[in-house]
Formats: sequence, C-alpha cells, structure tokens
Amino acid sequence: MTKPPYSASLIDHPLSFQDSLIAWFQRVAEPHPWRKTTAPYEILVSEVMLQQTTVQAVRENQRYEKFLEGFPNTTALANATEQEILKAWEGLGYYNRVRNLQKTAIVVNESHGGEFPRTLTELSALPGIGPYTAAAVASFAYDLSAPLVDANVSRVFARLFDDETPINSPKGQKIAWERAEKLVPENGARHYNSALMELGQKVCKNNEVLCENCPVSSFCQTRVPLTLPKKKPKAQTIEITEYALWNQKQNGDLLLQKGDGSRRNGMWTLPLISKEEALTLPLLHESKYAITKYKVTLKAYQAEPNSIYDGEWIPLSAQDTLPIPSPMRKVINELQERL
Ligand code: ADE
Repeated sequence: MTKPPYSASLIDHPLSFQDSLIAWFQRVAEPHPWRKTTAPYEILVSEVMLQQTTVQAVRENQRYEKFLEGFPNTTALANATEQEILKAWEGLGYYNRVRNLQKTAIVVNESHGGEFPRTLTELSALPGIGPYTAAAVASFAYDLSAPLVDANVSRVFARLFDDETPINSPKGQKIAWERAEKLVPENGARHYNSALMELGQKVCKNNEVLCENCPVSSFCQTRVPLTLPKKKPKAQTIEITEYALWNQKQNGDLLLQKGDGSRRNGMWTLPLISKEEALTLPLLHESKYAITKYKVTLKAYQAEPNSIYDGEWIPLSAQDTLPIPSPMRKVINELQERL
C-alpha cells in the first residue's frame, strides 16, 4: 500500500480538513432516518439503539421508525409498561439500554418540564447518558460544537495521526477525545461529526481502506493503514451452557417463565433447569450465541410428560406479544416447526 500524498498537518489546518470532510459528506451522506430530525429525544433513541446494534440491523427492519411510532416522545416512553418497552426492543438485545432510555424520559419529564436540557453538562447528568451520548445529542440535535469519539472516529484518528496507542486503552481514548476537541468546528459540528463517522463506515473501514476515495487523504500520516488501529487484547470469553426445558401441550401452549434474574429481567424464556435435571431428559436442540464476554451454548430438553414443572402456560397466540430474547425465540420457532 503506497502512502497517500502527504501535504498538510491536520492540527495546523483544521479548517481545510473540516471543509474537505463536510463537502464529501454532503455528496455521499446516507439518508439515515435519524439524520432527518433534530429532536433531542429522537436523536437519543437512535444513539442508544446504535450503541450495540449495527446501522444495518437497525435500518433493515425499520427498528428505529417502529420504536418512535410506539413511543413518539418522552411522555409516551415514560408512561409505558416494562413489558411494552421490552417488546419494542426485542431482538436488539442488551435490554438495559431501553430501561435506561425510559429512566431518562422520566427524568426529562419530571425534572426538566419535558424539554431536554441544552448543554453538554446537563445532558451528561441525565441517567444512563455517558460522554459519547451527551456529545451526540448536543451536536446532532443542537449543532453545538461538541467533540465526539466512537469506534469509527478512534480508528480514523489512529490512522490520520499514525498513532499506535491502543484505541481501547484509557490513554488511547484520552488522546482521541483531545484530538476530537481540537478538530471539531465552532459551527457545523452536526455535519462534521456525522461526516467523521461516515468516513469510518465507508472509506476508512476496519478491514478495508479506500484511500483513493478519501476526502482527507492529504492529511493522513500513516503509510500502513491496515495495521492500525492497535488494540489491547480483550478480556477472555467465558463459555457457559444454559439448559432449557421444552414442554408443549397438544393445543400448542408452551411452558414459559418470566425472568427475574438480572440479565433477563422481565423477559419470557423457556424455563431454565439444572444440568443434573437436564441430563436425565432427551436433548432436542442445541445452538450457540454470544453476549458480552460470554459464549453461550443453549440446549433444550424434552420435558417428562407426567411431571409438573414451575412456569406459566402461554397460548401460542400470545407468544408473539411477549418480549422473548432472540436466542430463545429461535429455539421456540425451530421446535414448534419441527415437533
Ligand atoms: N452510529 C452511531 N451513531 C451514528 C450516527 N449518528 N450515524 C451513523 N452511525 C452511527
């Protein structure tokens, strides 16, 4: 890979860097639905949804639009039941995100008269809103000059500055936020921040770089873009197994349980049983999924016909209206078709 022609120092020429980036963005910007609004509530929903879910997954099934149809403002979200918000989030995973979103809506209604605060400091004080989300709302909703760093921006900066500091280390993050602070324009941060993210998504990608299409290649100091960014090794994954019970009646009703454990609080799942109990029953299904640092093997076993188990019988028709975690939903659909 040959190094793009290097001509200008980024920090010394932020204006021309910003202009090149924004001009490019105006030509190629994706028409994301969250770019058609400046309502802080709607921006917040998009940012929370995009935190652990890809743009593609959110766009494909119109998850953002559907969520806003169900909960168009802070009042609608604040007044919703837990089951309603979990159902609206089904399939997106990491359900604490929607619980926190509801907490924010309640605080905005109760402590701010239903209006989102307009400064970075006040936004950061809302429950569940960290530095990234506060800066995203400040710049995308209010066009405030707020620096913004996500994984895309960290990668772009590591290459622009030819910096080998691991981007997932505290030092790497500190450097990235300092650079973002120096480079963010006084006016027009809304488009500038979107443009930086889009550059990471379309041009300066994780495993592919399209330097010939890069609007800021003349500022880029790396000769070896694909060797950057450096990352510290992640915490090791932990393998666990979940043992689930399949107990379906002739009429289609299925035994399900509402979780009161931390992770699946309020969601409905097949009843979970101990390994010892599972090993006495016929195995029907095995699949794998990942959640945070866990690699989970999910095994479902046929219940004993004459045993009595804890749980609630849920009619087939009601299963579509309950919040059920995706990996469980897949098992249920598969076994219902098969058996
Ligand atoms: N990922 C997180 N926030 C985003 C945004 N506003 N636009 C595109 N991708 C994003």
